[in-house]
Parts: sequence; structure tokens; C-alpha cells
Amino acid sequence: MAKRVRKAVFPVAGLGTRFLPATKVMAKEMLPLVDKPLIQHAVEEARAAGIEEFIFVTAQGKQALEDHFDIAGELYRTLEGRGKTAQLEVAREAEIPPGKLFATRQKQPLGLGHAVWCARAQVGDEPFAVLLPDDVILGEQPCLKQMVEAYDGIGGNVVAVVDVPREQTDRYGILDTGAENGALVEVRGLVEKPKPADAPSTLSIIGRYILQPEVFDELERHERGAGGEIQLTDGMARLIGRQPFHGLRFEGTRYDCGDKLGWLEANLAFALARPDMADKVRAMVAKLV
Ligand code: UTP
Repeated sequence: MAKRVRKAVFPVAGLGTRFLPATKVMAKEMLPLVDKPLIQHAVEEARAAGIEEFIFVTAQGKQALEDHFDIAGELYRTLEGRGKTAQLEVAREAEIPPGKLFATRQKQPLGLGHAVWCARAQVGDEPFAVLLPDDVILGEQPCLKQMVEAYDGIGGNVVAVVDVPREQTDRYGILDTGAENGALVEVRGLVEKPKPADAPSTLSIIGRYILQPEVFDELERHERGAGGEIQLTDGMARLIGRQPFHGLRFEGTRYDCGDKLGWLEANLAFALARPDMADKVRAMVAKLV
């Protein structure tokens, strides 16, 4: 039986340059979707998939990301004093239990592969999940839960994948695909940001991964890939052929919230999915357009 996935890594050390000036002093991962920061959406998804330990790969100026999951004494006391119990509940929902949130520093944003490698000591010798908080998935079943269920059956490495338009392959990690079995696709190779003409398929990896700890040995080489960055895709690619490696066509819609338009669209989609807001948002959009 596959070893259980208990730990999740959240790389949050990037500069978020596509979102300037909002990200000049504030972490991109604190941007809200309606009223909840991106990082909280990711942590809740991990929790729903059975994750028990949360590892943030962070950087200078990103303290708010850790504080968000702590107690907020003054706020709690004030809300309590004013009898605002519903708001108090909402604020407390974000908390991670003592000793279950770990933070490690990347020091320099050298790429996603480097960020994940920075979590090697906290992860140790067991399988782990990686969630990029700027990829948000709206669906019936949390995406990572679908992945853990698939992983429990096949083991090895599992990445979430979606079909992208061919002209966009140079933005993503792309699969060279093998046999397909339902929603699972065997991965024969991985290429980071290939030109549309060179892309082996149009199946792209999104920001959800279940990986085996051997990936740390590959990332240890610190080899620079596409864009001069240490790419997670390159480290993962070296595991293919040695360990099972599958893509999962998950159910749900993915929004790229690292991009302004993607984030706006996600805000609308999440608001429209909320019974307390849907009608008002629909009327608002109709009025605007
Ligand atoms: P992105 O490439 O989308 O984030 O990385 P970025 O570099 O912050 O944003 P732009 O492109 O400049 O606008 C996806 C995730 O990986 C993290 C980011 O924080 C984000 O959550 N990341 C990226 C790191 O932690 N370290 C890195 O060196 C790069």
C-alpha cells in the first residue's frame, strides 16, 4: 500500500511581479478571493485531503502569511466583547493547531524547484503534497482530495493536469503522455514551457502535486532550467521511469490567480457560487456590462 500523504508544502516566496503594485509590500498569497486569502483556500483544500502538517516556504516581508493562521488575541477579545460570535468563528476557522505549521526560508526566489527543495528537512523521507496557492480550483470535490484518492490506488507521483490551448504551452509544464486509464494519464516525460510547435501534448501541470521524497535528490543539483530558474518540472522529470508517475485530469475549474484577469474571474466565479451573494453579483455584472 502507498505510504500516506501527511504533509503539504506551500511555496509562497515568489515576488508576485505580475500583481504589482498590490504585491509591493503584501504577499500575493494574501490577496483575497471574495473574503478569504488565497493561502487559506489552499490550506483548507489540504486539510480536506487529510493533510496534518503544513510547511510554508516563505521569504522576507511575508510574516502575515504565518500570522493569519495564528490566534489574533486583540481581535478575538474585541469581537467577544462586542458579542460578534459569528465573526469570531470566521476568524478562528483559519487557525492551524500548535506545532503543525512550519516555516522555512527560501532566501532568494530562485524558482519553484528551489523553493520545494528548501522544505526537504521538514518533509523528511515520506511522500508529500505541494500546493501553489495562486492556482485555485472550484469544484464539488477538493482537487487534492481527488489526487490523494488516486495516489492511494497507484502510489508514486501524481500531478494535477488540464488541457490548455496549444498557443499557451510556453506558459506551463507540459506532459509527454503515455497510456490513459480513466482520469489518469501515464507520464512519459515533462517539459517546462515548450514552444507550441515543440510541445509533446497540450496537457499542462497545474499547481497541485503529490511527490516522492527522492525528488529532493534531483533538486539538490540546483540546475537552472527554463527562464534561468531551478524548475520543479526538471527535478520531477528525472523520476520518470524509476517511479510510477501519473497526471490526473481532476474535476473542477482552475483559476490562475497569479494573473490579474484570472484573479478577477476567480472572484466572480467564487462569488457566484455563494448562495448569499450570487443574485447580487449577477445583477451587478449585468449593470456593469
Ligand atoms: P509564480 O511564478 O506564479 O510566482 O510561482 P511569482 O514568481 O511570485 O509571480 P510572478 O510571476 O513574478 O508574478 C508560483 C508559486 O510559487 C512560489 C510563489 O510564491 C507562488 O506561490 N514561488 C515561486 C516561490 O516560492 N519561490 C520561487 O522562487 C518562485
